[in-house]
Amino acid sequence: KLILETLDRHGTIKDTRTLVLPGQNDPAATHDAQIIILGALNSLSSREMITYETHETTSHVLTPEGASIALNGSHEARVWAAVPAKGEGSPMTPKELEAKIGGDIAKIGQGRAFKNKWISKEGAGLVKLASEIDDVTQKEMREVDSTGTLAGGEKALAELRKRKLIMQKKGQWFVVHKGPNFSTSTAKPETDLTVDMLTSGAWKTSTFKKYNFEAEGIPTNGGALHPLLKVREEIRNIFLEMGFAEMPTSNFVESAFWCFDALFVPQQHPAREVQDTFYLSDPAKSLPPPADFYAKVSKVHEHGGFGSTGYRAPWSDEETRKLLLRTHTTASSAAMLYKLAARCRGEEDPEADALAAHSGTTRKGKSADQGDGFRPAKLFSIDRVFRNETMDATHLAEFHQVEGVVADRDLTLADLIGFMRVFFKKMGIENIRFKPAYNPYTEPSLEIFAFHPQLKKWVEVGNSGMFRPEMLEPMGFPKDVHVHGWGIGLERPTMIRYGITNIRSLVGHKVSIDSVEKSPAVRF
Ligand code: PHE
Repeated sequence: KLILETLDRHGTIKDTRTLVLPGQNDPAATHDAQIIILGALNSLSSREMITYETHETTSHVLTPEGASIALNGSHEARVWAAVPAKGEGSPMTPKELEAKIGGDIAKIGQGRAFKNKWISKEGAGLVKLASEIDDVTQKEMREVDSTGTLAGGEKALAELRKRKLIMQKKGQWFVVHKGPNFSTSTAKPETDLTVDMLTSGAWKTSTFKKYNFEAEGIPTNGGALHPLLKVREEIRNIFLEMGFAEMPTSNFVESAFWCFDALFVPQQHPAREVQDTFYLSDPAKSLPPPADFYAKVSKVHEHGGFGSTGYRAPWSDEETRKLLLRTHTTASSAAMLYKLAARCRGEEDPEADALAAHSGTTRKGKSADQGDGFRPAKLFSIDRVFRNETMDATHLAEFHQVEGVVADRDLTLADLIGFMRVFFKKMGIENIRFKPAYNPYTEPSLEIFAFHPQLKKWVEVGNSGMFRPEMLEPMGFPKDVHVHGWGIGLERPTMIRYGITNIRSLVGHKVSIDSVEKSPAVRF
């Protein structure tokens, strides 16, 4: 405001050091004052209200010693002031003087005081010789302090610099002119032309902020795919490349029948206990499963069949009808395999037909319909499962399973291993090993281990196996139809991909939206 009003009155400001800042008595000659002025000049010139030129100066400021002299007088003046006048009291000994004004000041000051003829010796002591003195050094200090220089000129300044009482300081001052948008109003310029301005006519007198074409702009809002979804898409593409069709898996709630019984999981299996599985209380009971199939499943459990002795344990209908959150997507695979076998049972299932039609055969020629209605299929799913687990940095009560299932005639374990090698290779994992394992629904079963290049050790990445005849034959599949499958987690490869060490920063309420928005695309 001061700058604008001064410009308004005088047209230009020839030297900003002449301005008197608000709340000050003296002109703004100091370095600090010019810094404050420069801030205002920059702000005004960015709005093109003013233009200014910069001038460099060298001025002087007091050193701490100089400042002390400005305040208390020079050393020689203090010596003079301390000693008694001739004839008034006893002369002061150098020791007494040192005790009174300090050793350094007394020593340095005495020499100059003698030279100036301000003091003289009397016996062993000192007395005043001059009745009045002119403390030039103190005056010079005060002059430098207020003006930054000396009227005496460079020679006098150089002398004081040598005595380390003053030092040079670079400074700036400015010449200010009116700019194209000059006005005495400091109101912030408008950034938008509004309807109100147009209707009131205020736009005619408003000042507008100039467009900044160099501005980077604000990030645009938009949806972002969660890292899990990005990795899911990559894996989905691998399956599609390999001729697989995606199974519908939106039924998070399943019956124990499809999650366990149809898979030949014994009703006494520990995984079925509440510590491992979430059961629903409302509704608690599923609709009955298809009656024929139910009869066959319960029979193979209780009494055996299809070459199996079964579990020969009591069968509970109540157990099979329990509703639960599916513990694996193999529940959905079982239901889809049952549908795929519909034609073998002499039934129709358009949904399974469509999936079979979309997935290529594995071994052309052998797979043709041999009159029993069977059609080969390669199916996959990637979806959520739920387990009643203790949660920690790598486990949550829900996660995603990636599952592949292949049904064809005379498939062998070698086919399963071959499929998995191709599949994992497409995920960038070439180094895999298999270890015999146990699943109630597959025999043989294999755990899959991959060599983790960062951890430098083998880590378990999946589980697989050949589905048992006790599971497949009650569905109606011919004996030569074999089905193999494998399951892997989605979270672990995602965490490795994105370098995430705690699952809570990937899933759940602690995930930062920002990290999701900025997570890069992923390619295997
Ligand atoms: N259901 C198994 C699991 O949850 C994975 C699997 C799928 C195993 C298909 C064999 C066949 O770990």
